[in-house]
Amino acid sequence: DTGDVSLGEYEHYMLKEIYEQPESIRNAMRGRLDDQDATAVFGGLNLTPQQLRSVERIILTGCGTSWHSALVGEYLIEELARIPVSVEYASELRYRNPPIENNTLVFGITQSGETADTLAALRETKRKGHRTLAICNVVASSIAQAADGGVYLHAGPEIGVASTKAYTSQCCVLAMLALYFGRTRHMSYEAGQGFIEELRRLPAAVQQALTCDQQVRDVAKKYCDATTVLYLGRQYNFPTALEGALKLKEISYIHAEGYPAAEMKHGPIALVDKQTPSVFIVPRGTTHDKVMANMEEVKARGGPIIAVASHDDPHIDAIADDVIRVPQVPGFLQPIVTVVPLQLLSYHIALLRGCDVDKPRNLAKSVTVE
Ligand code: AGP
Repeated sequence: DTGDVSLGEYEHYMLKEIYEQPESIRNAMRGRLDDQDATAVFGGLNLTPQQLRSVERIILTGCGTSWHSALVGEYLIEELARIPVSVEYASELRYRNPPIENNTLVFGITQSGETADTLAALRETKRKGHRTLAICNVVASSIAQAADGGVYLHAGPEIGVASTKAYTSQCCVLAMLALYFGRTRHMSYEAGQGFIEELRRLPAAVQQALTCDQQVRDVAKKYCDATTVLYLGRQYNFPTALEGALKLKEISYIHAEGYPAAEMKHGPIALVDKQTPSVFIVPRGTTHDKVMANMEEVKARGGPIIAVASHDDPHIDAIADDVIRVPQVPGFLQPIVTVVPLQLLSYHIALLRGCDVDKPRNLAKSVTVE
């Protein structure tokens, strides 16, 4: 159902939604950055200052792409707010019955707000007395109503079955939550201000990342007949690897695997040959040199390499066959920028293979049955 959302100048909703991301990220942040106190504000969380301070654990749960943003959230909240985080597939959490400590907040992350497993996981944890919150796009959806409170993404309708703008908005909301929780604990006023400045630069960075489109088309032409593609990244870009692989599987029907780059040598490297391209997400940062070493290993085995790298990385061309450059942002915001070329790559490969980009086979926009 496309409602009354028009395609405008775009050929597909997925492409339109990819291009909307600078704006959807701006909308996720609108009215939520508080310069005065160097923190984020959320009208709908309904937490008292005491509840906020006494949080001992956060559970992030969801499915598919929303589970990937939960992984980004885990890294963000643990690093910046120092609160232990567990990430759970909603379909597992609902039956797994793990011990959950008092003072645990459970966030259900969902674009549609209608995913059956996420709804059931929240209902089950709420029944056990835990505070449940939604990070959700669709206003007044079942999950938004079932939760005790939450944060809307304000990304606008997402029609393409493959989630794009909802994902980057989820990551953005999770970054703001990390700021919010961090500022009630160890994060200084100055660090909070710096964080806000970086968040404000994001829409422009994503806009700049979108300029790689033509180059991504060329890469897509080169690799559209591949039967397996590996996606490798570390730390904040490990979830990006998973998300890039999921996007390719969903809309182009090419088998893809996302892995933490260093795990490669524990198995997936056996897949590397001249016909199997590896996409490395390798912006500048703490693990950059380690990932470069992983790239060397793939190169030594004849595997083609596509790198998503920082715009000013001087060493990358010597190793990678194709380099897609993205603007440099701090590590904790990289997933929001590095995923953009991977969304475009899956889109262009799917087009070249004649796939129905907005309505891929066997998939529904929201999975409302178990
Ligand atoms: C994303 O591209 C997928 N179509 C799918 O994994 C999706 O993210 C998942 O079904 C969860 O949906 P939700 O965010 O609406 O709960």
